[in-house]
Amino acid sequence: MVRPSRLSPLGFADDAKPICYVNGKRYSLPLGRGEATLLQWLRESGLTGTKLGCGEGGCGACTVMLSHWEAGGVQHRAVNACLCPLYAAEGMHVVTVEGIGSVRDGLHPVQAALANSHGSQCGFCTPGFVMSMYSLLRGVAAEGREAPSEEEIEECLAGNLCRCTGYRPILDAFKVFAKADAAAYTADAIAAARGMAAATAAENSSTPPAAAAGNGTPATNGTAAAAANGKMPSSEPIFPKELKGRRPAALRLSGPHCTWYRPTTLEQLLTLKSAHNDLKLVGGNSEVGIELKFKDAGYRHMAAVTHVPELSQIKVTDRGIEVGAGVTLTRLQDLLLQQAAKQPPHKTRGFAATAEQLRWFAGRQIRNTGTLGGNIATASPISDLNPLWMAFGAVFRLVSQGRRVREVPASKFFLGYRQVDMAPWELLLSVRIPFTGPTEFAKEFKQAPRRDDDIAIVNAGMRVRLEQRPAAEGSEEQAWLVADVGVAYGGVAPKTIMAEKAMAALKGKPWCRETLDAALVALREDVNVAPTAPGGRGEYRNSLAASFLFKFYVHVCLAMEAAHPDSFKPQLPAGYASAAAPYHRPPVRGVQFHHEVPQAADGSAEVGKDYRHMSADLQVSGQAQYTDDVPLPPNTLHAAFVTSSKPHAKLLKVDAAAALRLPGVVGFYSAKDVPGDNMIGPIMHDEEVFATDTVTCVGQVIGVVVADTEPAARRGAKAVKVDYEDLPALISIDDAIAAGSFYEQYGNSLETGNLEAGFAAADHVLEGTLKLGGQEHFYLEPNGCIVLPTEDDEYTLISSTQAPTKHQIYVASTLGVPMHKLVCKMKRIGGGFGGKETRSIFIHCAAAVPAYHLRRPVKAILDRDEDMQMTGTRHPFQASYKVGFTKDGRVTALHMDLYSNAGNSWDLSSAVMDRALMHSDCVYKFPAQRVVGHMCRTNIASNTAFRGFGGPQGLIAAEMVMERVSRHLGKCSLLVRQPHLYKEGDVTHFGMVMEGCQVIPCWEGAIESAGGWQQRREAVDAFNQKHRWRKRGLALTPTKFGIAFTKVTYNQGGALVHVYTDGTALVTHGGVEMGQGLHTKMAQVAAHELGVPVSKVFIAETSTDKVPNSSPTAGSASTDLYGMAVLDACRQINERLKPYRAQAAEKGWSFAQMATQAYMDRVDLSAHGFYATPEVTGFGGPRPFNYFVFGAAVSEVELDVLTGDWQLLRSDIVMDVGNPINPAIDIGQIEGGFVQGMGWLCLEEMVWGDNAHPWVRPGHLFTKGPGTYKIPTANDVPIDFRVKLLTNTPNPRAVHSSKAVGEPPFHLGSSAFFALKDAVYAARAAAGLSGWFQLDAPATPEKLRLACGDELAAPYLEGKEEGWRPLMSC
Ligand SMILES: Cc1cc2nc3c(=O)[nH]c(=O)nc-3n(C[C@H](O)[C@H](O)[C@H](O)COP(=O)(O)OP(=O)(O)OC[C@H]3O[C@@H](n4cnc5c(N)ncnc54)[C@H](O)[C@@H]3O)c2cc1C
Ligand code: FES
Ligand code: FES
Repeated sequence: MVRPSRLSPLGFADDAKPICYVNGKRYSLPLGRGEATLLQWLRESGLTGTKLGCGEGGCGACTVMLSHWEAGGVQHRAVNACLCPLYAAEGMHVVTVEGIGSVRDGLHPVQAALANSHGSQCGFCTPGFVMSMYSLLRGVAAEGREAPSEEEIEECLAGNLCRCTGYRPILDAFKVFAKADAAAYTADAIAAARGMAAATAAENSSTPPAAAAGNGTPATNGTAAAAANGKMPSSEPIFPKELKGRRPAALRLSGPHCTWYRPTTLEQLLTLKSAHNDLKLVGGNSEVGIELKFKDAGYRHMAAVTHVPELSQIKVTDRGIEVGAGVTLTRLQDLLLQQAAKQPPHKTRGFAATAEQLRWFAGRQIRNTGTLGGNIATASPISDLNPLWMAFGAVFRLVSQGRRVREVPASKFFLGYRQVDMAPWELLLSVRIPFTGPTEFAKEFKQAPRRDDDIAIVNAGMRVRLEQRPAAEGSEEQAWLVADVGVAYGGVAPKTIMAEKAMAALKGKPWCRETLDAALVALREDVNVAPTAPGGRGEYRNSLAASFLFKFYVHVCLAMEAAHPDSFKPQLPAGYASAAAPYHRPPVRGVQFHHEVPQAADGSAEVGKDYRHMSADLQVSGQAQYTDDVPLPPNTLHAAFVTSSKPHAKLLKVDAAAALRLPGVVGFYSAKDVPGDNMIGPIMHDEEVFATDTVTCVGQVIGVVVADTEPAARRGAKAVKVDYEDLPALISIDDAIAAGSFYEQYGNSLETGNLEAGFAAADHVLEGTLKLGGQEHFYLEPNGCIVLPTEDDEYTLISSTQAPTKHQIYVASTLGVPMHKLVCKMKRIGGGFGGKETRSIFIHCAAAVPAYHLRRPVKAILDRDEDMQMTGTRHPFQASYKVGFTKDGRVTALHMDLYSNAGNSWDLSSAVMDRALMHSDCVYKFPAQRVVGHMCRTNIASNTAFRGFGGPQGLIAAEMVMERVSRHLGKCSLLVRQPHLYKEGDVTHFGMVMEGCQVIPCWEGAIESAGGWQQRREAVDAFNQKHRWRKRGLALTPTKFGIAFTKVTYNQGGALVHVYTDGTALVTHGGVEMGQGLHTKMAQVAAHELGVPVSKVFIAETSTDKVPNSSPTAGSASTDLYGMAVLDACRQINERLKPYRAQAAEKGWSFAQMATQAYMDRVDLSAHGFYATPEVTGFGGPRPFNYFVFGAAVSEVELDVLTGDWQLLRSDIVMDVGNPINPAIDIGQIEGGFVQGMGWLCLEEMVWGDNAHPWVRPGHLFTKGPGTYKIPTANDVPIDFRVKLLTNTPNPRAVHSSKAVGEPPFHLGSSAFFALKDAVYAARAAAGLSGWFQLDAPATPEKLRLACGDELAAPYLEGKEEGWRPLMSC
């Protein structure tokens, strides 16, 4: 117990010494840090294993385990350290990733499992996953259970995002802890776990038996590694003795910005409340933390509600339960489920509904700290629980000083936007949740852009009590009438509402279709969101309200029919039960196949083996360093950027005076301070480091403030006053087309065959336009750099870029220093995907200017929202096409105009468009094709490289055309596409001859892997026949992807190899390790060539002083370039070692002895290797690509017609990647690329302040964090996920006959898009609609739902023109 020496009258310890334990070590918490988070403090304390990915509780990278003593035992829970107030950890044990295992002392089984299963690529998300899993296991163990279930494991990861892996290997890694499969514990499996190669790796629990029939070898995914010993080690971080039984004392911790209180009695809390009008209560801080970080809220007094016993009480009474407002959501969920298990089922229908709603409420980490009271008091119009409280008849109990309690029915509590019936002196004490009666039904509804960890678009709670009464006067017939009803919605108004009109239409009426129809009509008065209301999606939100009521109607009908079959006859039409089908998602199963890798007789071959990522152990243990983790010199300054808040404006005045007066602020720098050239740009020099006269997008850098600390720098940047004069802004492609705003210097197009003749020969000619939204890179590690000036204008940049040379060039030119004085280096980066190639340059240049002037190190790390607003995305595209085709489906001519939204500068947009043009044939040979590129100049942040680099936009445009042709003719799309498939020797529309063409083998392989097209089609159709409101869809998508930079110069690479006398080799090459396993492959190439085990090769950091003039690590080409360069260097060394090798056998020398002997003889054991890809011509020549990579995927989805919610049931991928250097890594790239591609086309919606979204400030990005921008979670990946590598397809044009793999699989994600479209066709057919319809990407639930064309959505689409499509940013 804290023993205060002095107590205030309220019992607060004035000079308390707050403590906590971290990884078993006792720490005194710093005083005066009431506003700090646990994450800040951990990282300041050197525990940088816990990462900052978003700062808003949305990515899970910061997950730690908090343990505390409660009710005589230890409670463990995963929490987001970025939202956990530092003082909330007082008296607790914090376990971070460093605490559970390390490379030197041994990894924890959870860490080992992830490393061995290839579950860590860039590694930035990895510590968070480890800690979520670890916390689950500790929690389960504390409950006395042996193991969690597979479902629990998937559920505990819902709050963790990974952008690299596609989740399957992570799920596989952790699944063994469920101990559901004894095979995972066999000796073989454990051998595999210890890192042995895969030749005969055991199948694991994730492998469905059917899959084993495929040819080839199941790839090891090392899953069993996890289970190496199958149990938790005996040396778990032990809960500290001092904290056992410790009674937390009341705390008052004052500081310059805020005083933190921790009352331990209700009296203390109420007295504080009346003493401080501005007292901010804090539960889990998941709302307050966001306000502090993103809404500039500052609270002078904050009081934790967590230690007030009355707020944590739970009472079970005859009428229901009463739950304290401070109860966490996890505890509430457990309690409701316990009660549901204990009580007769009918009594707890409301509890079961609430527990189900909680399942989809945020991630586990948020639920572990977020409180019931915090959710209610926030009064968010999209709270997931408030509609339930209102509909279920809950009562809120408020308390004020003197313990005066006032009760307010939940239905009367919410008064307006974030306004409630609670006086400033009151607080929420508890909530009474009633039981339901025998004929009372309750149900929850929620539709969000993404199912896992997402805020609702619309949610609802519904309850009805039916009574059996005579239906009408004088009638003998009994009917079930509505005796009482509650229907409440969130997300349709500024507050949660009761649907009064609909309720009135239901009350007293029989529970039948006529009553429902009347209620649906009445509902249109209750819920009437305008299309452009804040939040947008008006039509969709309105239709969801109707869908939910309809689903509830069916749900109650089915329940009543089951309970009262004699008296209740719902007469639901066939297939209608599907409207109320409960959501079910079995655990993910994955299978991966690749062929046997030829091994040397002596086992020395290191190429072709499934080595795991070289840094995996460091990544899983949190020891891997990223830019933000590098220890700083003591005089380092922190930079924060002053950016434009206008999309297009003249800069009238920039006044930094107020900023410079702030404590800690050291300086402000802008264009006038640039010592060298203020102009930068990778192709055109059309960008300013600092804006001078005009700003052309929101987020453009105007200046930079440097300060002693990061918070001081951020405060300084906010204090800089900028005056603007607005200029007209163009945001979308349509804006640019209307204004004629293009980058005129770009004029590339491609043409083959005779278009005119082709159109003349066509039986049909169709035209259309497809819109493709942008995509945020969402690398887990935000952009950042450290600029370290050394003597005489020398600089070292520690950088998170994937293009070190470009950064060296532009920082040097900004500073006016020669390139040889500036080194850019990095150990690894936390994902890049193209986003850190050029759009990080200006950040480095701007941070370098104060470093130059002050001669002090400067560190700049972007917050997630800044990064998303400032650094550009995948280019949104519009593809307008005109296609001519014959009546049997042969395309005779295709014309396309591709428009990209390039943004406010040229950046790489021309190269992106070139690649789009060259991929606009997908895998199809068209006799005549013309495609013209147009780069739109707009006022959004310049768009840039992103995996696929324009290729996917071209590929999907072609695929869309083929889909349209087949639908127009009513033919199977396979039959229409098949005759067009490229064959060996065909010539593409850009003049390249197809060599080693694997289009058809991949196409057929995917069908075979899927179990046959016809069989699957029939099964899908049979399902659709039986289900009116759920539809399945099936699609096959092929791909071909060209490998080489279209700028010929970039097709070169260098490497430096040193051999040391102990027989080890140090390799440096020009590529950046960003998760793709490049270093691992390079080590394999070097080891193979030198004839040493891979463990003898180390890859040092990438650095421009070791390997100069490197090309960006992009275009999937790095293994090809650097692999050949490494090979070249090793061969030079081998050549010099030849005489020693000749003697080695005879003398029994090891490689070390050989190297030593050579050294003694003064032989150079170091070599620089170089490679330039031969023959490539760049855009316009006959060989723009070195070769193509091919693949195909079959995907099946299931769509909820009433909401647009869907699941990816199964995907079968077949890819040709030559002879893989490391099959496991290649499979990781395929799975990750597929999921990222699926995310782009089906999930990830960018929303800009444009004409489509007038409720967003012009030019601002609304979706600039994980809260609003949804990348796939583990719940979105195919439930059955099969990947197969084509066998015996060596590629003569790349190192060790391999092929590039990073980008090619991305487009295969479009199989999910087309499968969804297929499902919508089935829904439309059921609604009597036929023929083609437009579906833009991303195919969000909104677009899917509104395309289904049924009678429930129809009223909300009345008056829309033919071909209307939901508004989107593009
Ligand atoms: C990543 C993320 C995901 C989320 N997902 C969801 C979701 O899916 N669904 C959803 O509905 N919400 C979601 N939220 C919102 C939030 O997590 C919940 O509203 C949560 O329940 C808030 O509880 P808290 O204890 O963290 O609130 P806090 O942030 O601690 O407090 C919120 C507000 O309530 C006040 N308050 C707290 N306790 C009391 C009390 N006893 N009496 C009076 N006032 C009180 C505080 O002063 C503050 O104004 C999410 C938030 C985040 C960050
Ligand atoms: S950094 Fe905490 S959840 Fe993203
Ligand atoms: S490995 Fe998960 S984000 Fe990179």
